[in-house]
Amino acid sequence: MPTGTDDILRAVERLRGGGVVAFPTETVYGLGADAFNERAVARVFALKGRPGNNPLIVHVTGPEMASRVVAPGAFNEDAMRLSRALWPGPLSIVLPKAAGVSDIVTGGGPNVAVRCPDHPVTLALLLALGGPLVGPSANVSGHISPTTAEHVREAFDEGDVLVLEGGACRGGIESTVVSLVGSEARVLRPGLIGAAEIGSILGRRVEVGPVGAADGSGPLASPGLLARHYAPRTRTRLLGRAELERELREEPWRSSAVLTLSALDAGAAVGPAVHALMMPVEDVEYAGVLYAALRQADALGVERILIERPERTSELWAAVLDRLMRASAED
Ligand code: TXA
Ligand code: MG
Repeated sequence: MPTGTDDILRAVERLRGGGVVAFPTETVYGLGADAFNERAVARVFALKGRPGNNPLIVHVTGPEMASRVVAPGAFNEDAMRLSRALWPGPLSIVLPKAAGVSDIVTGGGPNVAVRCPDHPVTLALLLALGGPLVGPSANVSGHISPTTAEHVREAFDEGDVLVLEGGACRGGIESTVVSLVGSEARVLRPGLIGAAEIGSILGRRVEVGPVGAADGSGPLASPGLLARHYAPRTRTRLLGRAELERELREEPWRSSAVLTLSALDAGAAVGPAVHALMMPVEDVEYAGVLYAALRQADALGVERILIERPERTSELWAAVLDRLMRASAED
């Protein structure tokens, strides 16, 4: 059933009562709570099993609502430029937080990430609520992000989380997180929007990478970037094509799901134990189906998942590789 006004009103009621509502976006589904209700925000951390030092993105309808969560005047000319060009869209902007934003939201830090999601259901929800929503990806911490409402229902009880249906997410991987704190612009988490595009809108250089100055005085890293993340339950490895084919040739009996960019040739000795999942060769399409493919591979109940490593030939491929490396990192 498509989401209607009744569903939105029920969700608003749930949020006003301090409850949690999962909402669709153009990237992945988010686990939403009233950003100004500390207990509701704490509930989001508890449901996800998320470490308290990993801050949440605050979802807004635009610059006006964003100005209510950032420090007075912090939504500056650069933030205006980016929001005008890219909102609603997959860009989260980190700025000094307003005093009224709880430390729980920011993981104890002085800054807050704001983003305006590009999805009619969630824009309607934010408008009806009349205020901002925290929204981490609606998965248990460390697991694969959800790109359908069904994925969210698999992870959480209906009693705990009301899920708003919004179809399959188009983008597939999470928003780019860019910090405008201090004098530099820095991409903290690569995503659907590249640093080059941000730089051309701002007309200045954009740094890339989570680490600040070597003495640690730079902007906050995105703590979520440091851990094993986006990970299937099945042991997952990222391999070059030649290495992948060698593995399959040497141990053809080992039950494996293989995410490849082109068909495995007979020389790779693909036996009945091997389930090949062909991935798209274009970065946009690959990103769009990545999490669904990882879930599909995980559901096969195989011993291992092998992923053919794509070439880093675009910023979006780099963002995809970032997710693949975390999905295949050791515990
Ligand atoms: O596309 C998305 O961004 C999705 C949808 C639901 O909007 N949300 C999402 O949230 O991916 P989450 O919590 O799974 O990832 C948020 C990332 C983390 O890496 C976190 O560390 C970083 O953003 N982050 C959030 N607030 C920050 C802050 N104040 N300073 C630095 N990094 C921040
Ligand atoms: Mg997440």
